[in-house]
Amino acid sequence: MSYSTKVLDHYENPRNVGTFGKDDAGVATGMVGAPACGDVMKLQIKVNKDGVIEDAKFKTYGCGSAIASSSLVTEWVKGKTLDEALTIKNTQIAEELALPPVKIHCSVLAEDAIKAAVADYKSKHGAMVETAACTG
Ligand code: FES
Ligand code: FES
Repeated sequence: MSYSTKVLDHYENPRNVGTFGKDDAGVATGMVGAPACGDVMKLQIKVNKDGVIEDAKFKTYGCGSAIASSSLVTEWVKGKTLDEALTIKNTQIAEELALPPVKIHCSVLAEDAIKAAVADYKSKHGAMVETAACTG
């Protein structure tokens, strides 16, 4: 099986590899594993006070398609609100990278990592959101 040029580009020049300090303001982490192959992806988002993702980083222990998928989504989530980020579908990732059917689960990992990071952010910051809505 041969990789598409976009997969190779993200694999050889991955964007936004690394981690934020876990106590940095607005940082949330999504960590997911693929049962099919045991690969693991960690995606971190840094959310500003307007609820916009201003930065993202990843670390992926996995195949080239998983690395390319996570690199791509760090670019895609930047500038998006949390709800906009949740609209990113694995099918869009697979299409952008021209992933073959056996590599679709690698893009699912990236979609799940976004969802996990957003859920982590909301669980940490949910109380603040409620307070803002309070009229009591
Ligand atoms: Fe499992 Fe790619 S082969 S994430
Ligand atoms: Fe909202 Fe008291 S401040 S119920």
